[in-house]
Amino acid sequence: MTASVPVITIDGPVGSGKGTIAARLAETLGWNLLDSGALYRLVAIAALDAGVKPEDAARSAGLAQRLDCEFSQARGEVIARLGGVDVRNRMRTNEVSTMASKVAAVPAVRAALAERQRAFAQPPGLVADGRDMGTVIFPGAQLKIYLTASVEARAERRYKQLKEKGENVNLSRLLRDIEARDHRDMNREVAPLRPAHDAVVVDSTGLSVDEVLEKVVKMVKEKSLTI
Ligand code: C5P
Repeated sequence: MTASVPVITIDGPVGSGKGTIAARLAETLGWNLLDSGALYRLVAIAALDAGVKPEDAARSAGLAQRLDCEFSQARGEVIARLGGVDVRNRMRTNEVSTMASKVAAVPAVRAALAERQRAFAQPPGLVADGRDMGTVIFPGAQLKIYLTASVEARAERRYKQLKEKGENVNLSRLLRDIEARDHRDMNREVAPLRPAHDAVVVDSTGLSVDEVLEKVVKMVKEKSLTI
């Protein structure tokens, strides 16, 4: 991270709303956005397509190292391309989510993606969302937020999102999947999901996106990170 580039990290579990808040905050500030989960999702797609098992650490890491991806924005939506193919819809499927949290538990995959993530810290600033943005990737970030919510609230949010995308989902299965993914993310040996010691914990249960954003913008102003 370049010392002059301010970074705000937003970490948290599945469905905490960090992706939405990070995107809205980056837009409000006119800063760059890093959706680090997208990188793990792209490695997951590459592994699924190549028939690579996440336990095969060397091959999984090889896929992460060679990841040929590109992000662009159109009408407020981020378009992710893998090997030139638009995978934005496939990226959010349950199959890919589960695989992403499995490849993310492989230390060599995380190491392969670290520098790629740090390269997003470009002027005028970066909003980075994920699981280890404040703890591992940007430990010197100016503002660290850990966004959370009850597992039921998070499952309901994800349910709505997936339904809107036309996926056939079952709420109780989704809740179990989220609990399993949280468990894997929080208990892995490398970069487990937990708030950085200097993170501000925000519980978004029962709060709207606008209400959470208002809280975060207030913190940004208090830190004088914006005019
Ligand atoms: O944030 P998102 O749900 O898109 O992330 C997908 C998966 O990628 C997570 O379940 C987690 O296992 C992994 N991930 C991670 N570290 C990050 C971002 C995502 O391990 N910084």
